[in-house]
Amino acid sequence: MSGKITILGFAGSLRKASYNKAILNAAAELLPPDVELKIFDLEGLPLFNQDLESEPNEKVREFKAAIRAADALLIACPEYNYSISGVLKNALDCASRPYGDNALSGKPVAIMGASIGTLGTARAQYHLRQSCVFLNMFPLNGPEVMVALAQDKIDAQGKVTDPGTRERIGELVKSLAAWTQRLRQG
Ligand SMILES: Cc1cc2nc3c(=O)[nH]c(=O)nc-3n(C[C@H](O)[C@H](O)[C@H](O)COP(=O)(O)O)c2cc1C
Repeated sequence: MSGKITILGFAGSLRKASYNKAILNAAAELLPPDVELKIFDLEGLPLFNQDLESEPNEKVREFKAAIRAADALLIACPEYNYSISGVLKNALDCASRPYGDNALSGKPVAIMGASIGTLGTARAQYHLRQSCVFLNMFPLNGPEVMVALAQDKIDAQGKVTDPGTRERIGELVKSLAAWTQRLRQG
């Protein structure tokens, strides 16, 4: 692999002890050489209001600038009511507007998710992939990282303790780096 790659990661949960924040932190520990992961906290992003989209507040501007500065994105996607969380959907809406100023367009993206259920955010991840089509993002197809029964794999300090989960997260960031290089070459 040639050239440094910067990844921007964000989790669609505001919860302090979020399992999705935990898997993002694990990704930061499992990066291949020449890959940097910056984590953006979605706390403080306003609810999207189309009346105000031409004058985005500072947090929205900061988010869009961080996306644009990154070579690729890594999204930790919780599952709420069989879909993506409102926090994550709102973040995508904020980053994609106003029309013609979609910061997400053309970005390689890897998706992962952790849930306390047995399907590990599978349903939410496929909904997220649907939005990626309209947003003109380039999602990595695999490996799929769907962390089921997260409470058994992440400890009270937010450390991912399950070796298999750590291995898959490591594979995901490695594959995202290779995917980003491939797209760079056109
Ligand atoms: C409003 C709400 C809806 C939820 N719906 C689902 C669901 O559809 N599937 C699932 O596996 N877990 C569901 N959960 C449980 C989440 O997996 C769990 O709260 C998880 O910890 C959320 O991610 P976080 O730890 O990153 O905050 C739901 C939780 C909430 C608060």
